[in-house]
Amino acid sequence: MRTTTQNRKPQPNPPGDLTKALGSRLVGQPEAVEAVVPFVRMFQARLAPAGRPVGVFLLLGPTGTGKTRTVECLAEVLHGSEKHFLKVDCGEFQMEHEVAKLIGAPPGYLGHRETQPMITQAKLNALTTEHCELSIVLFDEVEKAAPSLARLLLGVLDKGTLRLGDNSSVNFERSLIFLTSNLGATEMMRELEPRFGFEAVADRAGQSETKGKLGKIGIGAVRRKFSPEFVNRIDRVVSYQPLDAAALELILDQQLANLQSLITERHGTRAFRLDLGQPARELLLRHGASRRYGARELRRTIQRLLLQPLAVMVSEGKVPPRSTVRIRPSACGEKLDLTVGPEPPYRAALLEFSRQMRKRRVPYELAPFDTDDSDAA
Ligand SMILES: Nc1ncnc2c1ncn2[C@@H]1O[C@H](COP(=O)(O)OP(=O)(O)OP(=O)(O)O)[C@@H](O)[C@H]1O
Ligand SMILES: [Mg+2]
Repeated sequence: MRTTTQNRKPQPNPPGDLTKALGSRLVGQPEAVEAVVPFVRMFQARLAPAGRPVGVFLLLGPTGTGKTRTVECLAEVLHGSEKHFLKVDCGEFQMEHEVAKLIGAPPGYLGHRETQPMITQAKLNALTTEHCELSIVLFDEVEKAAPSLARLLLGVLDKGTLRLGDNSSVNFERSLIFLTSNLGATEMMRELEPRFGFEAVADRAGQSETKGKLGKIGIGAVRRKFSPEFVNRIDRVVSYQPLDAAALELILDQQLANLQSLITERHGTRAFRLDLGQPARELLLRHGASRRYGARELRRTIQRLLLQPLAVMVSEGKVPPRSTVRIRPSACGEKLDLTVGPEPPYRAALLEFSRQMRKRRVPYELAPFDTDDSDAA
């Protein structure tokens, strides 16, 4: 028997405004937020059509602009964890016989018992939470899928079901399906090449012209690669834009806020605070972000220039609880210098940090003991 969204109990809304929550996490891609939110609302209102997935999205665009991040942010907003979705790397299914990894081998076939399907109804159900009964499935780099996977996928997009090797089926009527692809990416890079260098992007007219061109390149490449049946079953094709300097700076702030949260979470009342000035931020951006490669290197740069030297200091016992680690560019201008001091006072400094993050709309939450006066240093 098929379960449909129509006979289930109403969905509690995730707290707050979905557009705002998603938009504050996914930087500089309002088109993606606007594309996804109405489909979530349709599901929550129990008005999503039966017999197909709630929404099917194809995310296109240059590397490091937030395609995969969109899915992580949505999982975080809907389910409270950015890991709460099922990811299928289509690159792992380039050979015809590898499709058995996805749906399991039919009974009686060699290896039947060992080949557990990657997608099952139980796995999809386990991705839903009491906040939201919508599961999120990502097929990453869909252009790499073997034709047999593309055929299976067509069934999923068309009827909302996938038949497994053991003849059971998986129902996607309560799923949002995301396909990501680098189709057209090389051509997009060529289009970006003359303007490459994110510092130089000032002219807005030029940006919106580029935006239109990238969209056309992406859609052209999709039509050349996929059959019209496949393209017709996609609800929204979203073209991601190259991130400008302001967006990259905001993403850096997000990652620094995440790092501060991690320190607070792991070290509790013995936590310390990071104090980065604008010159240190600029150094990280210079090494880790470009209009051409997006924000992909940012995380690794933070790790190399900040996290690893910090880890040495912490593991050598040089960072006392509730101290402040000042981070400034070194004299050579290529590294960061880290120094420890008691000033400014931990709680005041953290409250100021939290205020700054709120002003920039970067999600950041203080731990209860950070606002509690009883444990003052
Ligand atoms: N728009 C964005 N908002 C917030 N963070 C972003 C954004 N774009 C990129 N990032 C950061 O950069 C990292 C890499 O981005 P992501 O994995 O989404 O790239 P992608 O567009 O999927 O690229 P690829 O085509 O190479 O897979 C993310 O984990 C995130 O930290
Ligand atoms: Mg990706």
